Amino acid sequence: MNLMTARTDIRKRHIAVFASGNGSNAENIIRYFRANSSEAEVALIVCNKKDAGVVERARRLGVTSVVLGRDRINDPEVILPILRAFEIDAIVLAGFLLMVPPFMVECYDGRILNIHPSLLPKFGGKGMYGSKVHEAVVAAGEAKTGITIHLVNNHCDGGEIIFQKSVPVDSADTPADVERKIHALEREFFPDTILRWMSTLSARSGC
Ligand code: GRF
Repeated sequence: MNLMTARTDIRKRHIAVFASGNGSNAENIIRYFRANSSEAEVALIVCNKKDAGVVERARRLGVTSVVLGRDRINDPEVILPILRAFEIDAIVLAGFLLMVPPFMVECYDGRILNIHPSLLPKFGGKGMYGSKVHEAVVAAGEAKTGITIHLVNNHCDGGEIIFQKSVPVDSADTPADVERKIHALEREFFPDTILRWMSTLSARSGC
């Protein structure tokens, strides 16, 4: 293979971001990779709610989004061809409220990352999402909370933790105050953690 041939084989790694809601993390990740990486980019947004803010954010940023209901995300004959068509190397869950189906965990083994807005294993598991997490943290009188970035397996919030960062909770903090602190941590640390994680992944073998 000569050098000219080799260069045509090189492309950025493709990330699919799965999100269900507002999409501030998805937008931050898209912008971060555009500004900071020649190695990877967000190639696709997958959303399970057609009115979710993330869909409009993707449109404004010129990133393709697909909206699929739970049944279609859980159907390997629907979702896998889409991920293959976009040559997806890694999946990032950013406020995605459905469980990833086992066939996808198997196909993308070690290649799916999630962010959870607490210091897992505290305040994790079924039913613990979004503002419910921050309400529970305040109700429990926690002195600190934080973010956890972890690999996805078939257990809700149960995969290997690759990054955590904490922030103090003041006694006067409301759940909304805690949420603001958490979003600030997510903005600062999530994209960079994804970038570092992606650099550890081998070339995709396909499935
Ligand atoms: C974030 O706090 C994330 O940690 C949690 O859901 C929230 C999503 O926010 N899983 P956004 O949709 O990215 O604005």
